[in-house]
Amino acid sequence: MTRTIATAPVVEHPRITVIGTGYLGATHAVCMTALGFDVLGVDVDAAKVAALSAGTVPFFEPGLPEKLREALDSGRLRFTTDFDEAARFGDVHFVCVGTPQAPGSNAADLRFVEAAFAELAARIDRRALLVGKSTVPIGTAARIADEVRTLSPAGDDLELAWNPEFLREGFAVEDTLHPDRLVFGVTSDWAEAQLRAAFRPILDRDTPLVVADLATAELVKVAANSFLATKISYINAMAEVCEATGADVTVLATALGYDDRIGARFLKPGLGFGGGCLPKDIRAFTHRAAELGVGQAVAFLEEVDAINIRRRIRTVDLVRELAGGSLAGVRVAALGAAFKPNSDDVRDAPALDVARMLYLEGASVTVYDPEATQNAHRVYPDLDFASSLGQAVASAEVVALLTEWDEFRSADPTTLGELVARRRIVDGRHALDADRYRAAGWEYRALGLPSGARQPQALPGG
Ligand SMILES: NC(=O)c1ccc[n+]([C@@H]2O[C@H](COP(=O)([O-])OP(=O)(O)OC[C@H]3O[C@@H](n4cnc5c(N)ncnc54)[C@H](O)[C@@H]3O)[C@@H](O)[C@H]2O)c1
Repeated sequence: MTRTIATAPVVEHPRITVIGTGYLGATHAVCMTALGFDVLGVDVDAAKVAALSAGTVPFFEPGLPEKLREALDSGRLRFTTDFDEAARFGDVHFVCVGTPQAPGSNAADLRFVEAAFAELAARIDRRALLVGKSTVPIGTAARIADEVRTLSPAGDDLELAWNPEFLREGFAVEDTLHPDRLVFGVTSDWAEAQLRAAFRPILDRDTPLVVADLATAELVKVAANSFLATKISYINAMAEVCEATGADVTVLATALGYDDRIGARFLKPGLGFGGGCLPKDIRAFTHRAAELGVGQAVAFLEEVDAINIRRRIRTVDLVRELAGGSLAGVRVAALGAAFKPNSDDVRDAPALDVARMLYLEGASVTVYDPEATQNAHRVYPDLDFASSLGQAVASAEVVALLTEWDEFRSADPTTLGELVARRRIVDGRHALDADRYRAAGWEYRALGLPSGARQPQALPGG
């Protein structure tokens, strides 16, 4: 794509809007304020706007509530539902709305992204930069760039850039303030210079910056998520082989991880990946690649997805095996509902999926999660929810650890053993000390381990 050399002046200290204040947008708005900018957060969800304005983060993210209050106290952060105000206020507009999986398809649902850009563009009548941060299929940015120019009274003065986001829930503040790299997808020198001004405090710390065209910027994000998903499914595929051979996947992962060409991170066997990004992003990538005529190039991602889903089914198998062959009427304590610890996000959560499958096979399932119970209850109101670990495991015939919260890792097997009806545990995340559990009289099972395996070895780097 050609780049234009525009001579328009850059706003050195731009006023920033953040459109869509969910996990990504709320964090971005708060962190841009912390970096010294004047920020307006915009959402169509009036309840979310009211909560954020009152200093309450409507989801669980460590460190964000404190940073939100500091940002509000600075007087430089406000939230609104008013797009007119946003159009007047912003020099740089970051669009952070959701791109979920479309109903009945693997494609991304781009309705929210399209609506957000259209709402803004129709109201902006001066030079400004629209910046997409949502994860979108390749080609979306170029199409939207044309659409907004046509729609906006500002015409060619309204430019579009893409700035994919790599933050991890649970570490969102740190990742936003100290990213390992920034990626700018731009079509003009002006857009690059304006984005550099918006990220000046981060770039001044010598944070690596990759400047790319729009398509490459879009691709960086889905390629990164595809790689991470593949690495997780790779070790989980090896777990399947271990299960068939009596080999031990934790020892295998340890040995592989010491090879620094491979690395130990994301090589942890278990129940696999979930959440609001990895599953829908690899599916949308597969779908988009097929549309582009290169479906074969990423066909392996369908297998990555299938391996991941099989881990959930295998976890249910282990619980059933421990229960003696049938789940009907068996009391199961499901520990964890969030897709990972330190998050209350239950979108495509493996833990909740396993709990649901156990329930559908007739088990009496009690779910406990330190932070995600409310969200989980909203998704699966039929499941029973406990308000403490002790309450969840009381009288359980099998305990299934499904999300590796510290509270579960550090629980004492002897104390837990006094509460349950039968000391039987499936460690879906290789998070527990198997020897300690066995010494306390527990029957301990984990994915990819022979049933009487030695204690799993610690995995370097997690
Ligand atoms: N959550 C993450 O860790 C993460 C990390 C990197 C990238 N992303 C990407 O960021 C995007 C947002 O993800 P999220 O997890 O924050 O989603 P989310 O569902 O938590 O937040 C999306 C927000 O957008 C709002 N919204 C919807 N339509 C709108 C509109 N027209 N105008 C204004 N607001 C609107 C919703 O009300 C909601 O508050 C997705 O594309 C996701 O793939 C997320």
